[in-house]
Amino acid sequence: MKRILITGVTSGIGKALMHYFLDHGEEVIGVARDEEKIQSLRKTLSKKYESKRIHLYRADFSKMRDVKAMIAEVSNAFSDGLDALINNAAVFPHKKRITEDGFETQFQVNHLVPALLSFEMFPLLKKRLGRIITTSSDLHKKAKFDPDDLEGLKRYHPLRIYARTKLYNLLFTIALNDRYGEKIGLRAFAVHPGKVKTRIGEKGKRRLYGAVWRFFTRKALPPHRVVFTYGLLVYEKDPKTIIPYFHRGQPLRYSDVALNRDNVNRLFDETAALLNIDPNEKLT
Ligand SMILES: NC(=O)c1ccc[n+]([C@@H]2O[C@H](COP(=O)([O-])OP(=O)(O)OC[C@H]3O[C@@H](n4cnc5c(N)ncnc54)[C@H](OP(=O)(O)O)[C@@H]3O)[C@@H](O)[C@H]2O)c1
Repeated sequence: MKRILITGVTSGIGKALMHYFLDHGEEVIGVARDEEKIQSLRKTLSKKYESKRIHLYRADFSKMRDVKAMIAEVSNAFSDGLDALINNAAVFPHKKRITEDGFETQFQVNHLVPALLSFEMFPLLKKRLGRIITTSSDLHKKAKFDPDDLEGLKRYHPLRIYARTKLYNLLFTIALNDRYGEKIGLRAFAVHPGKVKTRIGEKGKRRLYGAVWRFFTRKALPPHRVVFTYGLLVYEKDPKTIIPYFHRGQPLRYSDVALNRDNVNRLFDETAALLNIDPNEKLT
């Protein structure tokens, strides 16, 4: 039985992932931000699966203190290891918000927290030659890399910073493979799920935005149809590819900006510095 940690399990792709891996007989640690939704999910899941395979934790990723408390609990409860970390939670607000930690919200929720989780779960993943899979997006191809404005605060536009955070997901994934692939056998992947019928483009937004999102995704696939790619990346013993970016079960070419190793290294180093983390310390 594999043990898999998935973020953002109360809706959309994350919820479908939780069902997918529980259906496959795995033990799943789900992380979500809303206590009410967690209770409702627990109720639904416990009717279908044995409760010892279901673990649900609350953490709002726009609060680093929440995230750190959750990490401490998970690390303590599952110290014998983790087979996969799936960084899936993300937010796409319609206006600029700064978190209590002082970061632009998408930059924190979509990039900094997945990076922190990746660093902090290293010790558990190392024990089982685990994998880190992050939900990115082909929208990253629209993003520029500006190391002097990582949070996209100059000429702020929510879609611009959303696309950038999806680029950071990919750059960080590439950096993890470069630095730790051979050294400790860690494999990292990013997934482009395609256009998926979820509510990410409606949450916290005015009605008009919701209507535009629903129109844009009217022919999109339902979440349960896209999760097999994650299954392939968790179960395949040795996914033979030098491209760590997948869509519909196949490697997919990413942008030239993501191919640039200066960008990969700069993003990784800036991220570690912002999180005040020495990545090598986690590997000893
Ligand atoms: N849908 C698409 O077409 C599409 C395309 C490309 C990439 N993606 C990516 O797919 C991933 C999943 O998104 P989705 O489409 O499934 O949308 P979704 O249903 O809104 O899922 C996002 C998840 O993240 C959680 N989340 C949001 N803010 C959070 C916070 N502050 N703290 C903790 N969790 C938080 C949400 O919790 P709540 O349930 O409480 O809202 C939700 O469970 C995201 O990384 C997104 O960027 C989606």
